[in-house]
Amino acid sequence: MTTTLKQALEAPSIYLPTQARIVDARPMGNTEKVLTIELPKGVSLNHRPGQFVEVSVLGVGEAPISISSSPSRSNGTFEVCVRKAGDLTSVLHQMGPKETLGIRGPFGRGFPYERFRGKDILFAPGGLGLAPLRSLINQVLDERGNFGRVIILYGARDPSELLFMDEVRQWQSRSDTEVHLSVDRGDDSWKGNVGVITTLFPKVEIYPRNTVGITVGPPAMYRFVLMEMLGKGLSEGNIWMSLERRMKCGVGKCGHCQINHLYTCQSGPAFSYAEIKHLEEAL
Ligand SMILES: Cc1cc2nc3c(=O)[nH]c(=O)nc-3n(C[C@H](O)[C@H](O)[C@H](O)COP(=O)(O)OP(=O)(O)OC[C@H]3O[C@@H](n4cnc5c(N)ncnc54)[C@H](O)[C@@H]3O)c2cc1C
Ligand code: FES
Repeated sequence: MTTTLKQALEAPSIYLPTQARIVDARPMGNTEKVLTIELPKGVSLNHRPGQFVEVSVLGVGEAPISISSSPSRSNGTFEVCVRKAGDLTSVLHQMGPKETLGIRGPFGRGFPYERFRGKDILFAPGGLGLAPLRSLINQVLDERGNFGRVIILYGARDPSELLFMDEVRQWQSRSDTEVHLSVDRGDDSWKGNVGVITTLFPKVEIYPRNTVGITVGPPAMYRFVLMEMLGKGLSEGNIWMSLERRMKCGVGKCGHCQINHLYTCQSGPAFSYAEIKHLEEAL
């Protein structure tokens, strides 16, 4: 019988990381690196899109990082996309194959994938927000027959900050998927749309009663994307996002991630707009 990482963690302590091994490390964008991580034999991550893991390096620290690979493509490993932001993430950027790190999780409740079945899906990732959404996008594409239309609107600050472009091109080449890209600032090579992600919304036709909108990106983006989605007629319960808060324990004990009565690490980080719109500090 396979033990899930969560079961392995439950005994003896939720704070005990499982030792995992990097099997691949590839640079991406100006400040990001994608790590492929392998858990010990017989332990599976068993995650849902939208969940995160706590990644640690001995003597350096621990940080929450979204799981970027899709459960439908797990193959005994999983991927994270790490932006160099400070102490731990800088060390992760220096690490490569065969080196070990600690993993706790998966944590958070993720996106309610089953509720999305049968719907049209409008994805609107911004910048590094594609890393967590990629997990859900690839799962939806791997089970394409269970969904209606799939539309992806992806924006970044400039062309060099568009992530996972090899996969984005594959999505663009599919006849069953509509993909639009935009950058805030173009360069000589860029022939596509220039403008913030909201400038892509007028390009797509949406049937609001059967559409789920999902956005992940920098907090400043959310208000504007929300206005577009609500303006297109999507219901508040059908608009989903991921809230990033300072997290420490990841398991509802320390209170670092609290918004009003909610612990983001447990109740989220994926929330529908209907769930958080009354919470003053949420957006
Ligand atoms: C649920 C969740 C999912 C995340 N997923 C990813 C991911 O997929 N890829 C990724 O690169 N990063 C992700 N992050 C952000 C990542 O956790 C932080 O960048 C990380 O904690 C930085 O650790 P550090 O030790 O390198 O930086 P530190 O040395 O601790 O800090 C560097 C700087 O970043 C600030 N900072 C620290 N934590 C956060 C935070 N949570 N939000 C905003 N600013 C912060 C600090 O104040 C400081 O200015 C996620 C965060 C959360 C809560
Ligand atoms: S991170 Fe500790 S309670 Fe959420």
